[in-house]
Amino acid sequence: MNLHSKIQTPITQDHIDFYRENGFVQVDNMLTSEELAELRVYLEEAMQTESDRSLAADQKGGSYYRVLNQKINLWRDHAGMGSYSFHPRFAQSALELSGASGMRFFHDHGLWKMPGDSKATPWHQDTPYWPIQESEAGMMSIWITLDDVNEDNGCMAFVPKSHKLGKLTGIDFLNPQNIFDYIEGGQAEGQKPVIVPLKAGSCTFHNGLTFHYAHANSTDKPRRVLAIIFTPDGVTFDGKEHPVTNGLGLKAGEPIAGPRFPLLVKANV
Ligand code: SIN
Ligand code: NI
Repeated sequence: MNLHSKIQTPITQDHIDFYRENGFVQVDNMLTSEELAELRVYLEEAMQTESDRSLAADQKGGSYYRVLNQKINLWRDHAGMGSYSFHPRFAQSALELSGASGMRFFHDHGLWKMPGDSKATPWHQDTPYWPIQESEAGMMSIWITLDDVNEDNGCMAFVPKSHKLGKLTGIDFLNPQNIFDYIEGGQAEGQKPVIVPLKAGSCTFHNGLTFHYAHANSTDKPRRVLAIIFTPDGVTFDGKEHPVTNGLGLKAGEPIAGPRFPLLVKANV
């Protein structure tokens, strides 16, 4: 029995087939226009809230800030954000795409690419940064844009099938390695990156193992994105330091669970 048995999603069988084959998928109109307007207000408020959840060690003007102004777990600072970060439509969509038996919330992420001296987000996989034991855990992100995005203001690009390469290495965002060295000879060899412009309120989903990139923002406005990371039920903690798990008393080998990581949806059985 589904936790929310009547959740409607925009996910079709074509989306599912594309996601499983390529490790990412574009889904248009994930938000209604009312939701888009509301989420813009909430996200603006949450990003302005002072808290220690801003990730850029060198805030405002530092070299990391030029890549991303990011803040994690906005839901903890802003109750309105909670209604989006835990939105069953997003989690149910992730569940359907992945085929997992249950999907937990791992964390949310405000990802703003600031105007001015902006830098691209280099090619990377997400999984190497997460404190999890499994190398192919099926963890995944939804990346919802609140602005129209294209190559001028920070749209994403993905290497199709690169999720089949397994967990490689964390890329240094300030001095990135050339990921195409890893792709040579693997299952993604010869795959050309796919650039994904989106309308505001649309989204992509990507597997934590899929190589992705975001263009620099050369416009005069921030590129405002909410990303939510989902983890299939049963994925286990590896004991590494991570801002999302630090201080929670989780032990290496234990499943990611508990009040910070609610099980949002379950598959019908
Ligand atoms: C970005 O929004 O610039 C990057 C997002 C990601 O790495 O998932
Ligand atoms: Ni990423």
